[in-house]
Amino acid sequence: MSNLVSIKEFEEHAYRVLPRNTLDYYRSGAGQQLTLKQNREAFSRYKIRPRFLRNVEHRDLSTTVLGERISMPIGISPTAMQRMAHPDGECANVQAAQALGTIFTLSTLSNSSIEEVAQAAPHAIKWYQLYIYKDREVTKQLVERAERAGFKALVLTVDAPVFGIRLADVKNKFSLPPHLSLANFQGGKSTDINRKSEEGSGLNTYSMSLFDPTLEWRDIHWLKSITRLPIVLKGILTAEDALLGAEAGVAAILVSNHGARQVDGTPASVEALPEIVKAVGDRVEVYMDGGITDGTDVFKALGLGAKMVFVGRPALWGLAHSGEEGVKKVMNILKTEFDIALGLSGCTKISDIKPDMVVHESFYSKI
Ligand code: LAC
Repeated sequence: MSNLVSIKEFEEHAYRVLPRNTLDYYRSGAGQQLTLKQNREAFSRYKIRPRFLRNVEHRDLSTTVLGERISMPIGISPTAMQRMAHPDGECANVQAAQALGTIFTLSTLSNSSIEEVAQAAPHAIKWYQLYIYKDREVTKQLVERAERAGFKALVLTVDAPVFGIRLADVKNKFSLPPHLSLANFQGGKSTDINRKSEEGSGLNTYSMSLFDPTLEWRDIHWLKSITRLPIVLKGILTAEDALLGAEAGVAAILVSNHGARQVDGTPASVEALPEIVKAVGDRVEVYMDGGITDGTDVFKALGLGAKMVFVGRPALWGLAHSGEEGVKKVMNILKTEFDIALGLSGCTKISDIKPDMVVHESFYSKI
């Protein structure tokens, strides 16, 4: 089983081993899944313009993000309920990130608590993904716990004032298996999410009843008033919102369409990236996630101005394969592919990747 050589093969393996309720939850996009498909396909519309006869013997993949040195510009995005993929769930995922020297982002909707994750990997660089609950006291406590446990940034998801419709979850009446809980909440086992509901996806029932759909830009100021951690805005897809974010004083923008799980019909993340880099790239750090399945995708995103990229589903496929080891394998595949893309394009370090090295395919029809 260890001869899997690509993210695609790990994905195919996960499709064979995961139960339906889990697999459909992880893999689905919203609606007709047009954006889900585009997240990947859009990468093929960007081309790498490689340079040769440059000494590329020694290559350094490390970079600095929010002041922290990381071993490679590829981190782990938040995905919910990871013990459905492997009994060690988030703890295995964070341990892989620790071993790799990169960032792990813990979802609010995790099956391992903030404290468990911190204990599992005390030296990992950990970020905390935040959903703002209608009950601001609940939200405040999550923020305080993340700070106390040594998390280094808050990743505020802004693209989920309501939840997207994932048809397979509606059909399956998605529910979290009864032996698992949303570990950050006491009594988590008895919430809507563990119950098969006639209304469809248990996640939608849960989120609609608890998450705050009234969020506005002024809530960023509220969040800033209760934390000293830098804020990463996750889910931004336009220059307009990126500018508002920079004005609100966030530290970074994570360009993302939430794994294509919210509004079907939005651009692929990589398509939205250039306008956002142009608008705010000199003021805040810009990252992206969505559709990264190969090291060349990482190179393209960096050429288009992302400081780093994140992957969500690939880490889940690694977990489903063999827990921490599987995530390490998946991340090392991406790392090796990226390293080779770097060398084959004439670069020895991240700052060698210049904007003119990645172009939209229309560049070639204009010549
Ligand atoms: C999802 C939420 C939990 O996409 O972020 O399912």
